[in-house]
Amino acid sequence: MRHATITGTGSYVPENVMTNDDLAKLVDTSDEWIASRTGIRERRISTGQNTSDLAYEAAVRALADANLEAADIDLIICATITPDSFMPSVACIVQDRLGADKAAAFDITAACTGMIYAMVTAEKFIASGMYQKVLVIGAETLSKVLDWEDRSTCVLFGDGAGAVVLSASEHKKGIMAAHLLSDGSKQSLLTCPAVPLSDLYSKEGKRNFNPVIAMQGQEVFKFAVRTVTENINAVLRDTSLKAEDIQFIIPHQANRRIIEQAAKFCNVPIEKFYINLDRFGNTSAATIGIALDEMAQNKELKQGDKIILVGFGGGMTSGAVLLEW
Ligand code: ACO
Repeated sequence: MRHATITGTGSYVPENVMTNDDLAKLVDTSDEWIASRTGIRERRISTGQNTSDLAYEAAVRALADANLEAADIDLIICATITPDSFMPSVACIVQDRLGADKAAAFDITAACTGMIYAMVTAEKFIASGMYQKVLVIGAETLSKVLDWEDRSTCVLFGDGAGAVVLSASEHKKGIMAAHLLSDGSKQSLLTCPAVPLSDLYSKEGKRNFNPVIAMQGQEVFKFAVRTVTENINAVLRDTSLKAEDIQFIIPHQANRRIIEQAAKFCNVPIEKFYINLDRFGNTSAATIGIALDEMAQNKELKQGDKIILVGFGGGMTSGAVLLEW
């Protein structure tokens, strides 16, 4: 049986820090409001770096951590909702910059659940025997799709990238279970438009087009708490493990209150949930990779630890992966 195990992690965030006080100079908000409703204190906002730049930096670190050369990589999957362009994909741009000549490369769109969907996809390529080494990246520059005059959304998000190398192993268990859910009927809860279908060749069609994130916050909140709970329970059930057997849960970093409520519903102590959203805000597909890399670099993870990664996001999508470190 071929398993997919994490053999390297990496992350990168832009240097530019934007605090809640900085935001209060742009919109009618306050550190007190943002911190008490979300737990976010500051986020990184790109000044000139696009999604592929962040993805590349995270990828370089993950490859170094895995002791691999770019030429060793068979496949690059990048999860993002803020690609540099419709084409080429971010994965192809990163492939070129890395010099990962033999790798296939493509992007995945599953919003904030993107890293989970990408890891599950990578795991299937490895389990099938098609590929040995897959670089999975979650990268976003959400700052370019925010309405910086809308205080209900612009305070929540940040820019960043996280990456993992998944390698085939006969011995180590790696990813033990995965669960994915999608509910397109709730698509309107969280949106960011692409190029509109309009007669751009006519005068009327040449209207201003400014794609920004729109959100029904309270409905997203309810969806998140419910699906985080459902997905955690599903991967526990599939592995016949109990919450006590799990050392850490790395949730998508959107809102501290979502994580606290989900912890209660799952009956898992909040201390087992890794939280760094106070420093980075919600970086969508990047949050889980950034958090995992932080824990790995800080030596918080021991061999044999059981970890659940769990996400939710636009689509609406959600999912979880249970893995052995
Ligand atoms: N500063 C100050 N006041 C604000 C701000 C702000 N940044 N944003 C909204 N308000 C005001 C509103 O205008 C409203 O004022 P009113 O009562 O005078 O009309 C009041 O605060 C309450 O607004 P609500 O939207 O009801 O606030 P709520 O308690 O629901 O908190 C929040 C909003 C934090 C967005 C919450 O709904 C939430 O976290 N939802 C989940 C959102 C999320 O996680 N999204 C991303 C997940 S998926 C993904 O990652 C892509």
